[in-house]
Amino acid sequence: TELAHIRNFSIVAHIDHGKSTLADRLIQSTGTVQDREMKEQMLDAMDIERERGITIKANTVRIDYTADDGQAYVLNLIDTPGHVDFAYEVSRSMRAVEGSLLVVDSSQGVEAQTLANVYQAIDADHEIVPVLNKIDLPAADCDRVAEQIEDVIGIDASGAIRVSAKTGVGIHETLEAIVKYLPAPTGTREAPLKAMLVDSWYDAYLGVIVLVRIMDGVLKKNDRIRMMQNGSVHQVDRIGVFRPAMAEIDELGPGEIGFLTASIKQVRDTRVGDTITHEKKGCEQPLPGFKPSQPVVFCGLFPADASEFEDLRQAIERLALNDASFSYEMETSAALGFGFRCGFLGLLHLEVIRDRIEREYGIDLITTAPSVVYHIHMRDGQMTELHNPADMPDLTHVSHVEEPRIKATILVPDDYLGDVLKLCQDRRGIQMDLTYVGGRAMVVYDLPLNEVVFDFYDRLKSVTKGYASFDYQLTEYRQDHLVKMSVLVNDEPVDALSMMVHRDRAEARGRVMVEKLKDLIPRHMFKIPIQAAIGGKVVARETLSAMRKDVTAKCYGGDVSRKKKLLEKQKKGKKKMRQFGRVEIPQEAFISALKMD
Ligand code: GTP
Repeated sequence: TELAHIRNFSIVAHIDHGKSTLADRLIQSTGTVQDREMKEQMLDAMDIERERGITIKANTVRIDYTADDGQAYVLNLIDTPGHVDFAYEVSRSMRAVEGSLLVVDSSQGVEAQTLANVYQAIDADHEIVPVLNKIDLPAADCDRVAEQIEDVIGIDASGAIRVSAKTGVGIHETLEAIVKYLPAPTGTREAPLKAMLVDSWYDAYLGVIVLVRIMDGVLKKNDRIRMMQNGSVHQVDRIGVFRPAMAEIDELGPGEIGFLTASIKQVRDTRVGDTITHEKKGCEQPLPGFKPSQPVVFCGLFPADASEFEDLRQAIERLALNDASFSYEMETSAALGFGFRCGFLGLLHLEVIRDRIEREYGIDLITTAPSVVYHIHMRDGQMTELHNPADMPDLTHVSHVEEPRIKATILVPDDYLGDVLKLCQDRRGIQMDLTYVGGRAMVVYDLPLNEVVFDFYDRLKSVTKGYASFDYQLTEYRQDHLVKMSVLVNDEPVDALSMMVHRDRAEARGRVMVEKLKDLIPRHMFKIPIQAAIGGKVVARETLSAMRKDVTAKCYGGDVSRKKKLLEKQKKGKKKMRQFGRVEIPQEAFISALKMD
């Protein structure tokens, strides 16, 4: 296709503002797929994505559109992930296109992820077309939201398109705006091949499928290509585009977006953001700014039933095949036995993987407390990364500890501002900025990631009744007084419960933890001390008193079936218990004990 007739774009929006619905409409209205083939929200391929209403893997579709000017255009839409965990993938895929539709729910207004995503579009030098969606809702207030876009984001929204992705109003205008306002791509057909690896995923039949944007040159079937990052060479066996079903074509030229397959076995061999060129007569300089995405949150995954370890290994290996940003290594815990220490891009990523293991592979998991990566500086000048609090070296060898900090942006209605400030303050936050935008406050906090990974988002939602929106980015590692807190149950340390805490908060955290455990651990025939300790010093202590009668005693001996039922129920409960020395701890205790309130 001629460059002048190509438009490449993405849609940026806060979660639930209607990105997928709008994409579906654009595809549908151009006849790219027939209505009856149209699965609702077809861009969100995976079930979990659909259930959670989030888009995880970038996806793409090529739309043929004959505009009002009578010319035929090719519109390539790249669907970007909307969640902060995948910020790096978003920022890369943004560089593969020239423009964005900025979708804002006209009954809600600008939210934290609207900002985070639109700033990435601005960073990528996009032309931006504002779209006010959901105008069919009675609460829609287009003028106010347009003004808000101008005030907060600083782009002209006077010509914002008013759309209802639900009813189809404004869809034609949106297609015309894409053609009219977004720039055509540039590139040279005669230059050496330079293509950006935008995304990749594993397909059971075709192997790894690589989504590419051609910057210069031409990619053809049977070409031998080189990944510039690691130098690996592959022979291309298929080239094509998504309509949205895969359709093979002969070549991809400058400005075009499509896929290739080349008998690549693992997604790990294809790094998002890498540059692809020809093995011979390749380009000299890769595209700038490549960095592999790094896991920032780690936790242990153990099978609730130890005999399922091999199943868990297989599940994890399969998932890792399709997710280069998910890392894992075997871990043994004195308390939990064999399992895996896994690294994730963020909490949502963790939850998605955990859900998939439980659901798709039917394995019950014990998840240990998520931990961030600490930098441990030793007295001898060495620095090690700590992924697991249980591995914290002896304090006498440690000079100091650094933790990752984030810049968090929160948008919240004024009424709840006080609660939000208190929450951030409680989590060792430092307020950086506070501004007001149309009845709402925008607060920016410098927070330790450690205080955010566990339940910050849940707390934020609950103190603001769901009205706050939140987004963050990692900023730097900073030294603070961080120590490892161990938990002892019946005088035995339970490594899966150890955690890194700020020294000033250790007593308070320890107290909450032991009180919780006291409630969560069932009584035994003997007294059980529960303690939290730092180094050798106990900072909090509770005692679980001994049980007086056994459970069946209250059945008066007579009713056998009832007694049996009770015992069965007990046995079932037991499956979810873990033995620690002489004490049994229920599985859910590992998560519940770590929640802060
Ligand atoms: P993520 O995939 O989570 O990023 O969400 P999204 O931005 O893609 O939102 P999605 O398209 O899933 O829409 C969210 C909800 O809003 C769905 O229940 C849609 O049916 C609804 N919705 C989308 N567009 C409209 C609209 O124009 N009017 C109304 N009334 N509802 C809409």
